[in-house]
Amino acid sequence: MEKTALVLVAFSLAVAMAMPLVHSTIGDPKEVDEWLHKIRLAKQKMTRFHFYYHDIQNVSSMKVAQASITDKSPTLFGLTNMMDDPLTEGPELTSKQVGRAQGLYGLSGLNEFSLLVVMNLAFTSGEYNRSTLTILGRYESAQLTIQEMPIVGGSGVFRLAHGIASGRTYSRNATSGNAVVEFNIVAIHY
Ligand SMILES: *[C@@H]1O[C@H](CO)[C@@H](O)[C@H](O)[C@H]1NC(C)=O
Ligand SMILES: *[C@@H]1O[C@H](CO)[C@@H](O)[C@H](O)[C@H]1NC(C)=O
Ligand SMILES: *[C@@H]1O[C@H](CO)[C@@H](O)[C@H](O)[C@H]1NC(C)=O
Repeated sequence: MEKTALVLVAFSLAVAMAMPLVHSTIGDPKEVDEWLHKIRLAKQKMTRFHFYYHDIQNVSSMKVAQASITDKSPTLFGLTNMMDDPLTEGPELTSKQVGRAQGLYGLSGLNEFSLLVVMNLAFTSGEYNRSTLTILGRYESAQLTIQEMPIVGGSGVFRLAHGIASGRTYSRNATSGNAVVEFNIVAIHY
């Protein structure tokens, strides 16, 4: 951690020197540098979230690519969707929206419905407004058990976050492909 922070400090210092800035704003190399110095003395926090993710075909989630074998594959291998899916407090789509899940998933299993998931959770409510968490993981969409995906980073209040996203398919319509996934998230950040 210490070493990584130092490398990041060195990197942002180099960037700051290469690009002098008129004033410091969030995300500016100078501001990032000051923040990195500060967190070396800071304690890590743990934040928990619970919300529902709604993947709605042709509305908020759309097919963008497929492989030559996708149509013949029993597991739709290669099918890839781009999404901007709503995240809500409750399982109903009409409950309060707390953010969006923007990213993509691709069917990456030749023998099972396993997804490669790459997404940013872009929060829009309260103190987390405009902060993001990034998930990169594997999700077996046909399983009804809880599945775990790593949180690999974040921005805003979630800078340098890591953590665990536990997802469980809450409901799924096999005809339309629409799904609601319940998420429990634990994020470690500063
Ligand atoms: C979130 O931030 C955006 C952009 O700054 C702002 O327009 C919006 O009102 C904020 N939402 C909440 C719930 O604070
Ligand atoms: C599942 O999706 C199909 C096709 O869009 C729709 O006709 C059907 O009503 C849906 N089933 C449920 C339980 O929502
Ligand atoms: C989504 O749109 C595509 C292209 O128009 C269509 O083939 C597909 O059946 C649609 N899927 C749903 C679930 O409506």
